Amino acid sequence: MSKLKVLYAVSEAAPFITTGGLGEVAGSLPKALAEKYKDKIDIRIVLPLYQNIRDRSDFEFIGKTTVPLAWRQQYCGVFKKDINDVTYYFIDNEYYFKRNECYGHFDDGERFAFFSKAVLYILPMIKFMPDIVHANDWQTSLVPIYLTTKYSPYEGYRDIKSIITIHNIEYQGIFDLGIAEDIFDLHGKEKGIVEYHGTINLLKGALETAHIISTVSETYAEEILDDYYAKGLAPIIQKNSHKLRGILNGIDTEVYNPETDEALFENYNLNNIEKKYINKRNMQSLAGLPQDEDIPVIGIISRLVKHKGFDLIINAMEEILKEKVQFIILGKGDRGYELYFESLQDSYHEKVAARIDFNSDLARKIYAGADIFLMPSISEPCGIAQMISSRYGTVPIVRETGGLKDSIKDASLGIGNGFTFREETPEALCHAIKRALRVYNNRDDWRKLVETVMKIDFSWTKSAEKYYNMYLNLRGIGE
Ligand code: GLC
Repeated sequence: MSKLKVLYAVSEAAPFITTGGLGEVAGSLPKALAEKYKDKIDIRIVLPLYQNIRDRSDFEFIGKTTVPLAWRQQYCGVFKKDINDVTYYFIDNEYYFKRNECYGHFDDGERFAFFSKAVLYILPMIKFMPDIVHANDWQTSLVPIYLTTKYSPYEGYRDIKSIITIHNIEYQGIFDLGIAEDIFDLHGKEKGIVEYHGTINLLKGALETAHIISTVSETYAEEILDDYYAKGLAPIIQKNSHKLRGILNGIDTEVYNPETDEALFENYNLNNIEKKYINKRNMQSLAGLPQDEDIPVIGIISRLVKHKGFDLIINAMEEILKEKVQFIILGKGDRGYELYFESLQDSYHEKVAARIDFNSDLARKIYAGADIFLMPSISEPCGIAQMISSRYGTVPIVRETGGLKDSIKDASLGIGNGFTFREETPEALCHAIKRALRVYNNRDDWRKLVETVMKIDFSWTKSAEKYYNMYLNLRGIGE
C-alpha cells in the first residue's frame, strides 16, 4: 500500500515559532505520527515564514511562484527544512510576514487568505499531492473552503480530503462581509459558505466544507454542541455533528522531560524525586519568597484572560491565603489581572510572587519547582500545562472542562492524578485546593501522589494512533 500523504497546514509550529498550544501541537503531533508510522505515513507541515523565524540555516529554497488572490498576484517563495522524518515548508512573502507579531494586524484576513491559497497553489511545485490536508483553527480555515470552492474540479485536487481541527472555538476569524469578494475572492454561493450572522466567519466556512471536524478532547467535542462553549457556532456544529471527533492532545515528552530539561536547577526522575525539591528551594529564592520546603507552592502559568478562570482565583484568593501556602504566577494578558497580581504581591510579598511575562525558561523552573499547578479554566479545549506539570511531578488542580476533565481525575478517593472541581464558583475552587493541601500535609500520601502523577503517560502515542486511523478512514482504506 502506498504511504498515506498528509499536509498539515498551520499558522505556527514548534520548534520554529509558537505563541501557544497550537504551535506546540503542530510541533509534536506530526513528529509523533512520523515516528510511529515511519513506513506508512508521509506527513509534512506548511507554515508562514515569519520574520521571527530567524534561524534559517539549512533552509532549502524550493522555488517561487505568484499566487492569485482576487485581483492580486502575490509573490510566494517556498523553503523547506527536514527535521527527522518530518518536512516543514515555509511560505515566504515579506509584505505579509515580515512583521513583529504573528497575529493582530489590521489585514490578518488577507494575510491568512494568502497563506491558505498558497498552501493549495504550491502543491504541484513541491510535487506533493496529499491524500489529506489538515487545517487548524481560523487562520487556515480557508484551506478546506478554497479546496471545495476553487480547486476541487482540478485533476490532482479532486480526491484530496480535508480536516479542520478546532483548537479553540473562541477565535473564529470574523471579518466584514464587504471584503468577501475583494480579499477572499468568494462570490455569490461561495460567499454564502463563510457568511454567518451578517459577517464573514471563516471557521464556520471550514466547518461546512471540511470532510472531518476534529477537536482536541472528547469532552470539548461534546461541549461545543452547546452554545455556552461554542460562542455562537453551536447550530453549525450540531448540523455537522456527524463529522465531529474529539482526540486528546499529547505533549512532546522529549522536550518536556525533567531528566534532561536544561532550564532546571537540578534534573530528576521518578527514582530521585528528592531532587525536585532542590528546584523548589531555588525557585523560591529566585522569586523572592521565603525558602521553606514545607510550605506548599502553587504555580500558575497562563495567559491572564477571563476564560482561564481568573475571576474564580481572585474571588478565592483571600480565603486561600489564610492557609500556609505560596503562589507563583507567570503570565501576561488583560491589564486588570496583571495589576491585580502585582498589587497582591505587594500586599503579600511573603506569599505571592507575580511575574508579568511570557518566559519559557522560568515556566520550566516553575513546572519543576512548584508542588501544585492550578488551572481552573472556565473552558479549555485541551490544555497542555496540566500535562507538562504532571510530567514534572507537580500535582494539577483543574476545573472539570474539556481536556482538563479528560486528563485529570480527582485523587481524593484514593485513585486519581490531581484534584478537580466542577462548579464555577470560588467555593468549589477553594474546596479543591484545601483537599490538595490536606493530602500535602501527609508526607507519605503526597509522595505517592507525586509518583502516580509523574507516571501518567501524556505522550502522543495513544492519540497519534487515533489520528492515523482517522486519516486512513478518511482516505477510504480502513485497516
Ligand atoms: C488552544 C486551546 C488549548 C489547547 C491548544 C492546543 O490553545 O486553548 O486548550 O490545548 O489550543 O490544541
